[in-house]
Amino acid sequence: MKKLMAANWKMYKTWGEAEATARDLVDLAASKLPEDREVLVFPPFTALKAVSDILNPVDGFSTGGQDYYYEDEGAFTGEISPVMLADVGAAYGLTGHSERRHVLGEDDECVGRKTAYGLSRGLKVILCIGELIEERRAGRVHEVLERQLRIGLGGVPGDLDPEQLSVAYEPVWAIGTGEVAGPTEIVEAHAFIRKNLISLFGKKANEIRILYGGSVKPDNCGDIIALDNVDGVLVGGASLHGESFSRIVLA
Ligand code: PGA
Repeated sequence: MKKLMAANWKMYKTWGEAEATARDLVDLAASKLPEDREVLVFPPFTALKAVSDILNPVDGFSTGGQDYYYEDEGAFTGEISPVMLADVGAAYGLTGHSERRHVLGEDDECVGRKTAYGLSRGLKVILCIGELIEERRAGRVHEVLERQLRIGLGGVPGDLDPEQLSVAYEPVWAIGTGEVAGPTEIVEAHAFIRKNLISLFGKKANEIRILYGGSVKPDNCGDIIALDNVDGVLVGGASLHGESFSRIVLA
């Protein structure tokens, strides 16, 4: 199983800035990329085609859409479909990111519909889950993760190809705060997620990648990626520059 090193550029970068960062990343990381690593970039929609044109021809590199709607087309102003993402070169889609849940108001049911729909349309999907700080303080981490997995994956068929799905554990209190979860917290949460995935999909769930996200940086990535059940990282702030993201990719 290759480690998936994913960059979430969120609502940053014009077309030209995105192209320049994608080129930097290829220059700095492509020739040194280990066999067991895969690099994925989620640019803003407006730069997806430009970044796909740069990354897709490079071995081990691909792109994805930060969000999508659960229809192919229709009167859904402002939305983008999985078919449209694939049309501009995206192989992946992201669902359930904490900013979609907590800033844009998506609930578990909406996240679940998107996850199942994207998979049914051939996208590889990364479902993000994670608890708020109040939920952690109240001892509710397992309850929250179990619910987000059960509903978020509720519509996914049992005959799922495990390579199509990843889960990103992103404790909300660690996103963009500089406060990374400790190794014990990460190992414990990832083991719990693995156990839940096995109860949903059987032993093939050992092949579903579980990523960690939340203040991953070049100087902590090596330690994080070596932990049990950590099959990759999802990086926001430190992925915005080719120099720092290439150090993460190669960590
Ligand atoms: P961060 O963001 O790396 O800036 O904490 C992670 C994410 O939002 O996926």
